[in-house]
Amino acid sequence: MDSSLTLVIFGITSNLAQIKLIPALYDISEKNLLPNTTHIIGVARAPQDESWIKNYFHQTLHLENKHHQHPISEDVLSKLNDKLNYMNGQLNDLNFFQELKQKITELGSTNTIFYLATYPDLYKDIFDNLKKVGLNEQTNGFTRVMIEKPIGEDLPSAQRLNKLLAEYFTEDQIYRLDHYLGKETLQNILTFRFGNGTFEPLINKDHIDHIQITASENFGIGKRGGYYDKVGALKDVGQNHQLQMLAFALMDPPSEFSNTAITKERTKILKNLQPIPEKVVFGQYEGYQQEENVEKDSKTDTFYALKTFINIERLKDVPIYIRAGKNLKETVTEISIIFKTPTNRLFQHIDCGKDPNVLIYRIQPNEGIVLKILTKKPGHTIDLDDSYMQFCYRSSNELPDAYEKLISDAIRGDQTFFNDAEEVEAQWKFIDPLVKTKTIPIVYSSKSWGPKEADDLIKEDSREWLEPSMMFCNI
Ligand code: BG6
Repeated sequence: MDSSLTLVIFGITSNLAQIKLIPALYDISEKNLLPNTTHIIGVARAPQDESWIKNYFHQTLHLENKHHQHPISEDVLSKLNDKLNYMNGQLNDLNFFQELKQKITELGSTNTIFYLATYPDLYKDIFDNLKKVGLNEQTNGFTRVMIEKPIGEDLPSAQRLNKLLAEYFTEDQIYRLDHYLGKETLQNILTFRFGNGTFEPLINKDHIDHIQITASENFGIGKRGGYYDKVGALKDVGQNHQLQMLAFALMDPPSEFSNTAITKERTKILKNLQPIPEKVVFGQYEGYQQEENVEKDSKTDTFYALKTFINIERLKDVPIYIRAGKNLKETVTEISIIFKTPTNRLFQHIDCGKDPNVLIYRIQPNEGIVLKILTKKPGHTIDLDDSYMQFCYRSSNELPDAYEKLISDAIRGDQTFFNDAEEVEAQWKFIDPLVKTKTIPIVYSSKSWGPKEADDLIKEDSREWLEPSMMFCNI
C-alpha cells in the first residue's frame, strides 16, 4: 500500500493544537515516524497566506509552548515546515470542502487522517461536508477520523455521537482519543502485570484489601472556565482518564496483545462497575466562582471522591476509592493497591509492623512502579521501616508524550489505545447515575486534600487516603 499521508487538522489555532498536537508532530517528525511523503493541512477560519503556518509552528514550538521539554532542532523543524499547508475556511461551508478535496488530490497521497481539534458541535457539519465531497470514503488507501474526549456529555449524547459517526465511518476508521490511554506509565501497567508472573496471582479479593486512585492537581482551572464550568471534575477526568486507569490496573488478562482483546477486557471492567450515588462527595475550591468565565453562583464540582466495586468474581467486595480535583495540595496521579495484612504477621507488635504492602503505579510525577514493604532498620534492635522497592524511569524526558504516541498509532492503524463506542458508553453508564444525584459541592480550601467529607467517606470503612509519597523515584 502507498504509505503517503495527508493529515488534516481542523482547528489548527485551537489551544489543543498549540499545546499538544504541534509539539507531538514535531516529536514524531524528529523520530522519523511520519511516512516519507506526508502533508499536513492546518485549517482555521482566519485568512492567511500559505507561509503563515510555518511561522505559526515555529512560534508555537519556541515561544508559547512550555510543554515542549527538549530543544527544537532547526533541521527537524525545517523538514516539518516542508510538509505544512494552510487553508482557511468555514467548516459548515461545502465550497470549502470542495477546495479541500481538490487540495488533497493535488497533494497526491491516498491516505488521509482528519483530526477534529474543534468544538463537538461542529462535528456534524464536518462529517456531512466530508461525505458530500466523498472524503469519508476509503478507496485506494485509508481514511481515518480522530476526535477527542469527551465523547458526549452523558450516555444518550454519547450514543447519539457514536451513531452519527457510524453513519459516515466504519469503526476501524474512528479513533476516539483519551490521552491517558497513550501515557507510557499507564501502558506499562500491562507489561508489569501480564509480562511478569510474580504479582498477577495477587490481584484478587483474597489478597487485596482495597484500591485507591488519586488524580490531584495543585493548580486551578486557569483560563478554561468557559469549558470547565459546564463540565466539572467528574465528567472532565472521572468519566475518562480515571476509569482508564482503573481498567488497566484491574482488567483480566487479555487473550492476546491485540486491539480487540485488550479493549474487550477494559470494557468488561467498565461494564461491571457499580455506581453508588450515596457514596460520592463533590467539592469546589474556594475562590472558584471568581475565576474567569465561571458563573458567580456556579455549582460545578472541581473535586470528587467516590466509592465503587467491580462486580466480577475475582474482585468481589474489594472497595475502590477514587478522588480527583483541582487546587489540591500536590499534583500527583497514582493507583495504589493496598494488600491485606495477615493477622499472624511476625512483627505486628513492633511500631509500623501492621502497615500493609502497597503496590503503587505512579503515573506522574516521579513516574514508576513501586512496592511499599517493611524492612529492618539497620542496627542492634528489631525496628522496622517503611521502604520502597522501585522501578523508576531514568528521566521523565525519556517518556514520549501521549499525543505523540497516539498520533503515530493512528498513522499505523493501531486502535489498541483508543476507545471504541461500547467502551465510552460503559463509562457514561457508570457516571450518569452519580451526576444525576449531584449535590451542591462542598467548598474546600486551596492546597488541601479536598473537603473533610471525602475523608469521612473512606474513614467510615476504617480506612484512610494514602498521602502520595514523593520519597521514591526522585530522578
Ligand atoms: C484533561 C482535562 O483531559 O486532562 C484537564 O481536561 C486535566 O482538566 C488534564 O488537567 C490532565 O491531564 P495530564 O496529562 O496533565 O494529567
